Amino acid sequence: MKTKLFKASDSDIKEASEIIVNGGLVAFPTETVYGLGADGLNSEAVKKIFEAKGRPQDNPLILHISSFDMLDELAYIDERTKEFLHQFWPGALTAVLIKKETVPSIVSAGLDSVGIRMPDNEIALKLIKESKRPIAAPSANVSGYPSPTKAEHVMKDMSGRIDAIIDGGECSLGIESTVVDLRGDCPVILRPGKVTLEDIKKHYKNVRYDEALINMTMTDRPISPGQKYRHYAPSAEVLLLSCDDIRRADESIKLYMTHKNSVILALSEDIEKYAGLNFYELGSSGNPFLIMHRMFDLLRKADNDGYDYIIAPYFKKEGIYMSITNRLEKAGAYNIIEVED
Ligand code: TXA
Ligand code: MG
Repeated sequence: MKTKLFKASDSDIKEASEIIVNGGLVAFPTETVYGLGADGLNSEAVKKIFEAKGRPQDNPLILHISSFDMLDELAYIDERTKEFLHQFWPGALTAVLIKKETVPSIVSAGLDSVGIRMPDNEIALKLIKESKRPIAAPSANVSGYPSPTKAEHVMKDMSGRIDAIIDGGECSLGIESTVVDLRGDCPVILRPGKVTLEDIKKHYKNVRYDEALINMTMTDRPISPGQKYRHYAPSAEVLLLSCDDIRRADESIKLYMTHKNSVILALSEDIEKYAGLNFYELGSSGNPFLIMHRMFDLLRKADNDGYDYIIAPYFKKEGIYMSITNRLEKAGAYNIIEVED
């Protein structure tokens, strides 16, 4: 199959929506990462997503909607939860809710819940509106690889496997949505993103992280099936070092840093120290949004440049840094080098 590359004009989006309505696959930009979309109410179309990505069948997909009316058709939701979602949508928050019969079981991987999100991106919203149905979409990468934040990333992973890609430029955020289970009285964050625990706390005092996010081990039975896979990972091995530790790195770490086939994701403030070593500038530690924006692109770049090791900073799991560390931990399969104080 030849993958068509669309720009994002109205007629391009119309043509792309016809592909969706006819059961095809279209990758499209959102504010978080590129999604790999299919008609969310068509089981056969959704099945193609799993095939194109090589995604395990037990990992459910998110349904993307463009209006609150669509939400009512897909999930059971009370007024308080709806009011909460009005504060965050359109935006980088995925709500896990009790699903209605209309949602095919392949979308929810057989669970009785469904993840739903209204993306904050004009192209995505137009595509959903034009298609007149929810669009099921995981991140548009080959399963396990870092999420795509540019159309060229999608092209590299998906060319020949899907019908079309809409090129909407770089995703503004660059990290996937916060996934929060809103079925009980106490919301549970299953995947951290731009929307933080503190943001949700303003509405639900008792919100908490899923255990699997706090303990740094791969769990066997997380609520969110996506949590159990090695994820966001380039081919190169990722090693994590706490920011301070990079400065006080011991000999074994220095060995990695000076390994000719390793590259450091360097904080802007540390760059002078890395003269003569391979590094990419990740951004300043005080600017987490820039780090999120560049992170996946640089993991991919390291593979393209042929490096065997990537050395990345390990941030404390606090506030927005929780989300950065979550992705890097998974990219590194929890390969964290701790240096004693
Ligand atoms: O920002 C995003 O969320 C992007 C864009 C395209 O919207 N999408 C995305 O989808 O990251 P995906 O499939 O790569 O990740 C969705 C995560 C997975 O970890 C999955 O297990 C979890 O959400 N998830 C989806 N539905 C769920 C459900 N019903 N219960 C628990 N976890 C669910
Ligand atoms: Mg993904």
